[in-house]
Amino acid sequence: MIVLSPSILTADFGNLQEEVEKAVRGGCDWLHLDIMDGHFVPNITIGPMIVKALRRYAAIPFDVHLMVENPDGLLKLYADAGADIVTVHQEASGCRHLHRTIQHIKELGLKAGCAVNPGTPVELLEPVLMDLDMVLIMTVNPGFGGQSFIPSTLHKIARLRAMAEKWKPDLLIQVDGGINAATCESVIQAGANVLVVGSAIFDGVDPEGNVRKYKALLER
Ligand code: DX5
Ligand code: ZN
Repeated sequence: MIVLSPSILTADFGNLQEEVEKAVRGGCDWLHLDIMDGHFVPNITIGPMIVKALRRYAAIPFDVHLMVENPDGLLKLYADAGADIVTVHQEASGCRHLHRTIQHIKELGLKAGCAVNPGTPVELLEPVLMDLDMVLIMTVNPGFGGQSFIPSTLHKIARLRAMAEKWKPDLLIQVDGGINAATCESVIQAGANVLVVGSAIFDGVDPEGNVRKYKALLER
């Protein structure tokens, strides 16, 4: 099964409740929440209070993508806010002791993910692969929605899938950035099984219909 996790980054932030409800009505599997701190990436989005506020309107897993420096001190806030899966970045300062950060996420009762930017080799995660529930391969440089898919990331997905066969066969492989009807086929073929779709779903027109369309596309 391919999991569809819509990113609300390009949703109407003045009407987030409605936007989330539309995605849920469309039948999405998870909801992807992009947390940016203005340091790790040149943009700022939402924090645990908004995550908690939205939790009331969606009974599906909350997939929290932390694009922040020093995530350790924030993990409990996101756990308390209702996160189910928390993904930190390998490159973030404060993730020098990545194994410890992963254990910290798991001790909070959450699923643990680690993300790698397009310029980071996925092989760096091999030592912790068996400890992770999910690896997020960024298919754009993080910070903004609506960017174009970077084709060289396909090789990384395939290499990660091969590594997972050895160390963690049930590893979730998530892709995030520039995923749409034109790119989803190739990432799935390379080995991804969790697709984050942002601007192709929250297009300001019909998020609910778009979720239906992508669910149907992924079920084929
Ligand atoms: C980028 C975010 C993504 C992004 C996806 O930094 O992590 O989740 O919003 O949006 P699209 O699908 O528009 O690239
Ligand atoms: Zn994201």
